[in-house]
Amino acid sequence: MENGTERLRAEDVRARMGAASRVGARIDCFDEIDSTNSYLKRIAFSGADDGTVAIAERQTMGRGRKGRSFESAAGKGLYLSVLLRPPLAPEELLPLTGLIAAAVCRAADRAGGVRTQIKWTNDIILNGRKLGGILTEPGLGAGGVEYVVAGIGLNVSQRTEDFTDEVAPIATSLARETGRTVSRAALAAALLEELDALYDALLRGDTAPYLADYRARCVTIGREVQLLWQDAREHVTALDVDGQFGLIVRRESGAVETIRTGEVSVRGLYGYIE
Ligand code: BTN
Repeated sequence: MENGTERLRAEDVRARMGAASRVGARIDCFDEIDSTNSYLKRIAFSGADDGTVAIAERQTMGRGRKGRSFESAAGKGLYLSVLLRPPLAPEELLPLTGLIAAAVCRAADRAGGVRTQIKWTNDIILNGRKLGGILTEPGLGAGGVEYVVAGIGLNVSQRTEDFTDEVAPIATSLARETGRTVSRAALAAALLEELDALYDALLRGDTAPYLADYRARCVTIGREVQLLWQDAREHVTALDVDGQFGLIVRRESGAVETIRTGEVSVRGLYGYIE
């Protein structure tokens, strides 16, 4: 166990891992960086290998989805990104993020002794609050997807007062939910193992178990949700997640449609009740 502020080192992560074929063969650790996603995008451009990982104690410009910032307090969370070079078409990127969400949940469960869930598309949920998130960014070139950077942020040792007022009502950490200090090195090792196993499955075309896992963990399915279109809001019922990780919903008119991008609020989650 670590005290929650101990520095993460590549050797400590590697010492807790089994043999990984790709993910984690190179691990770059930083005390401070703008964003581990931005770093991997920079080195991807100059040819860094498939599976390269970046971990930071602290990010000064941690980024979330939809242009939001991601709170990255020093030593209190796991801020980890991986560079992948999968043979995927641009339309296969939404599914990739869903598959990664399932792998992240498996790792958090193993390291933290918890049962995490997913809010579509890829918020990681623990006991109804946001434990972390995933930001997947593609590098597109003339030949299609040249690389993907998948960045994962997980809250580990934050107490409620460590979150800003904006985030505190919806966020949680492994320590807050379990009362225990979870080793970030063990969490990082579990995450790299799960991402490596997922990457193998992806290259073999055998991702069905991850889709099944995603569906089983998805708190959005079966719930009333509010679609957040630009300015408009619409209440619909989430029915299922399809094979491409689109959200199948029934509109008030009775029409059934599949949403592939965008944001939803789930009734009963994150304080949304109406
Ligand atoms: C979200 O919930 O909106 C996604 C958050 C993703 C945060 C991680 S932390 C590591 C990586 N580096 C970043 O700048 N963002 C991701």
